[in-house]
Amino acid sequence: MVHNGSVYAPGGGTQTPITLLWGTASTRSLLAAAVGQTALDDAVGVDGAGRAHIVVVDATLLHSGEAVAAVAAARAEHADAALLVVAASAEPALVGGLLDAGATSLVPADATPEQVRATLAGVRAGAPLVDLRMVRPTLDAYAQHLMDSRRRDRAVIDSLAAAVEAKDVVTSRHLHEVSRLARQLAAEVDPDLAEREDFLLGCLVHDVGKIGVPEAILAKPAALDEAEWAVMRRHPITGADVVRPLGLPPMVEQIVLHHHERWDGAGYPHGLRARDIPLEARIFSVCDALEAMTATRPYRTAMPVHAALAEVHACSGEQFDPWVVSALERGLDRGRIALTAAQDPAQVRQWQTPG
Ligand SMILES: [Fe+2]
Repeated sequence: MVHNGSVYAPGGGTQTPITLLWGTASTRSLLAAAVGQTALDDAVGVDGAGRAHIVVVDATLLHSGEAVAAVAAARAEHADAALLVVAASAEPALVGGLLDAGATSLVPADATPEQVRATLAGVRAGAPLVDLRMVRPTLDAYAQHLMDSRRRDRAVIDSLAAAVEAKDVVTSRHLHEVSRLARQLAAEVDPDLAEREDFLLGCLVHDVGKIGVPEAILAKPAALDEAEWAVMRRHPITGADVVRPLGLPPMVEQIVLHHHERWDGAGYPHGLRARDIPLEARIFSVCDALEAMTATRPYRTAMPVHAALAEVHACSGEQFDPWVVSALERGLDRGRIALTAAQDPAQVRQWQTPG
């Protein structure tokens, strides 16, 4: 049943030697239907220099491990040849194993002669084709894995956010409001960023490091003294230490670590300056500050929206990236950004009115 053979694949006036390994009767019939019985009968399998140009490995009767081993052996023996595998299954682990072992192209055992002919033509032209049915299960498995991974990331983030919420004075409403505002502002600056799930996750979990700050400091009904500020300033580093082992997308850690950096370099924890601060953190820090100013805290009442906006404007180029502040003001002017407190249009107009 299993034997070696070889065929010539006719095409474009030149014939490409094909070597068939582990060929079953059905695969020989398939190849004969694809390239012609005459070509099959006349096959020699190597060119004048003794090299195979196309090697077909018939893996239809081989177990997965045998199939991968057969492809690896063929690749070792025919290093420069295109390597077409007739596979019995499209199981993702097998497909991945065959490609890793050196397969150039794959066709299913029930491929039609036309599909085989097209695949051989692609291989000859240096543009290998892989039958969609061979990769579909792999793509589906990858998509499922991606969805599971996103669900897991989101569950981790929600859990971390809940931990901070249980301890800090901020509420989940604040977290979601600041995240919503950050996405709207990001859309003004870089629409791709606004759509990214990792940007949203980073915003939601930015203050996770506060779980390392004593509640007496977090909820102190007065301004912090210098020693207390020193503890508070550690929360970005603590937060980065918390999220790093979780294998979340890198942007999450970037926002956690750098959301208190300042454009003029006077921020913390690293004193990064200007565009050395990741863009996502520059965008988020404007929104975080705006939200914080317009929210009531244990030691002060909320600032009116127009005053908060004026403060952000005044800090442009010092605390905040002037480009990002301009984007905020442009988005507000054009109605594409809604502040959490924009609920009161009169206050926004007051800020927009000169003098
Ligand atoms: Fe923070």
